[in-house]
Amino acid sequence: ESTLGAAAAQSGRYFGTAIASGKLNDPVYTTIANREFNSVTAENEMKIDATEPQRGRFDFTAADRVYNWAVQNGKEVRGHTLAWHSQQPGWMQNLSGGALRQAMIDHINGVMAHYKGKIVQWDVVNEAFEDGDSGARRNSNLQRTGNDWIEVAFRTARAADPAAKLCYNDYNIENWNWAKTQAVYAMVRDFKQRGVPIDCVGFQSHFNSGSPYNGNFRTTLRSFAALGVDVAITELDIQGASPTTYANVVNDCLAVERCVGITVWGVRDTDSWRSEQTPLLFDGGGNKKPAYTSVLNAL
Ligand code: XIL
Repeated sequence: ESTLGAAAAQSGRYFGTAIASGKLNDPVYTTIANREFNSVTAENEMKIDATEPQRGRFDFTAADRVYNWAVQNGKEVRGHTLAWHSQQPGWMQNLSGGALRQAMIDHINGVMAHYKGKIVQWDVVNEAFEDGDSGARRNSNLQRTGNDWIEVAFRTARAADPAAKLCYNDYNIENWNWAKTQAVYAMVRDFKQRGVPIDCVGFQSHFNSGSPYNGNFRTTLRSFAALGVDVAITELDIQGASPTTYANVVNDCLAVERCVGITVWGVRDTDSWRSEQTPLLFDGGGNKKPAYTSVLNAL
């Protein structure tokens, strides 16, 4: 196969990218994005601050720009993200307790209603665990509404759009030996045991010198999948874009039946949120990097 999306499709998987609405008028960007990828995640446009800038006033202008571009070009869309401590609008940052809990529920209902039946997977909750050795929940305004906020988010989401697969998404949960990984694993196991609706776990996979790729990623993917959830690599970028590391990540996904697809977090290095790390598959001129060829060959 000659594109990432077509190559991934050979095994029934997708290969996606994050798309930024502000770049959709750049023909180099859209040409590569349209040619290579068959799944799209809005890089920022479906986040809380973008979709509900004022309480109860939903704005899907930018989100729909990304969504419509994707669908008009035959791609599936991952939703990102409904409940998160970051990129909250000011009004939400100022809420707490029962009012914040209700605002979270209303937000999930408002966004999911707009996209009902149109989103393959939703990242319902993003980054709810602490880094480091504690294995604790992240201390956020949402966490302070009560430990059950995550399951409430998932139950709300299931009722709002029963067709969408509901994911928990996080970073630094790729290494099986890390406390954060084990803490998320324990939560998913508990949810499955108690019947809290969860269908998938997203592994962001932002690999860099501080959180490097580790060969036990495959064990992590396999272990989560064994709990009865799909797994996906949702925001892949690798500092320096080592072709070997990129191939390892692809092979880890391919080795796990329930690994449904891979999304890279941007098209060209210059589009990356960490552009100084040159972590992506295309250089700033839109040329294929060695990592691109390595990924294509591994798929
Ligand atoms: C990043 C975007 O790439 C940036 O443009 C934005 O300024 C900050 O957010 N984890 C996530 C993503 O779940 O939403 C983040 O995206 C990167 C880390």
